[in-house]
Amino acid sequence: MKTKITSSVLEAARFILKGELVAFPTETVYGLGANVFEEQAIQKIFDVKGRPADNPLIVHIAHFSELGLLAKRLTPIAGKFIEHFFPGPLTVILPRSKFVPKIVSAGLDTVAVRMPAHQVAHRFLEACGVSIAAPSANLSGRPSPTTWQAVKADLDGKISCILKDEQSQIGLESTVVDCTGKVPLVMRIGAVSLEALQSVVPETRLYQPKNLKSPKSPGMKYRHYAPHAHVCIVHSPDDIQSLNSSSAYIGLHNLPSHIKVAKKHICHDLNDYAHALYHFFRECDAVGIEKIFCEAVAEEGIGLAIMDRLRKAAAS
Ligand code: TXA
Ligand code: MG
Repeated sequence: MKTKITSSVLEAARFILKGELVAFPTETVYGLGANVFEEQAIQKIFDVKGRPADNPLIVHIAHFSELGLLAKRLTPIAGKFIEHFFPGPLTVILPRSKFVPKIVSAGLDTVAVRMPAHQVAHRFLEACGVSIAAPSANLSGRPSPTTWQAVKADLDGKISCILKDEQSQIGLESTVVDCTGKVPLVMRIGAVSLEALQSVVPETRLYQPKNLKSPKSPGMKYRHYAPHAHVCIVHSPDDIQSLNSSSAYIGLHNLPSHIKVAKKHICHDLNDYAHALYHFFRECDAVGIEKIFCEAVAEEGIGLAIMDRLRKAAAS
């Protein structure tokens, strides 16, 4: 299959209408989309990514009116989060309506929904005229793509179209919050901080699976976000040891002058760290870096999501 690379939302939307897959930009990372109501197209997403069948997808919307077809009902907690954070990098989990094929939610009776705050994503979703189910547009297990070139590196020849745009502004995935119970549970921390959610619903807390083999959010049990290189978390650049000529470093603090690495990214702040991380991982892979030292950050604000991704990338 030849993959069409275009910046025309109309051209990209036409592939969706033919039941094909389109990668598209959002403010978090690029997504791999299909018409949520077409089971065959959804199945292609799982096949192309090599995604385990028990890992559910997020449904992307352009308009609030789409919620009526996707969710059985809007819980009061979800209503509050939607009011504060839509459009934006928050995904809410709601009771699934019977119109959403089971395959989208991997058989669960819930559905995850998000409204991206991204102009091109919004125009693309409008042009499709239908809600779009989309995971991140990477091969399963690889870092999420934050550029169209990263999508191409993973999926060229396997999907019909890549809608190209700039590098994703945020660079880490959305926060996923389950709003079906009495207390909101964060299933995946991301671009919306725990503190921001708690300022709207103070009881919000992180979900801690009792049994990691069957967590409520199946994505948790899989190795994620990992570059080929070995990821090593350090608390300060001074802790770096066993460096060799194919090592790299990313962090807030610069390296002492005696420590030399093949590649480094010194981040201005936590947002820059989030923005750069996956891109840096992929750049390191492209030049054959073997070990990436990543400086730990305080687990506040987006720092909590950065540490989550670093730990997952290091756990391999
Ligand atoms: O920022 C994002 O969220 C990006 C862009 C493209 O929107 N999407 C994304 O999708 O990161 P994906 O499939 O890579 O991650 C979705 C996560 C997975 O961990 C999955 O297990 C969880 O959301 N999830 C989806 N639906 C769920 C549900 N009904 N219940 C529990 N967890 C769910
Ligand atoms: Mg993903």
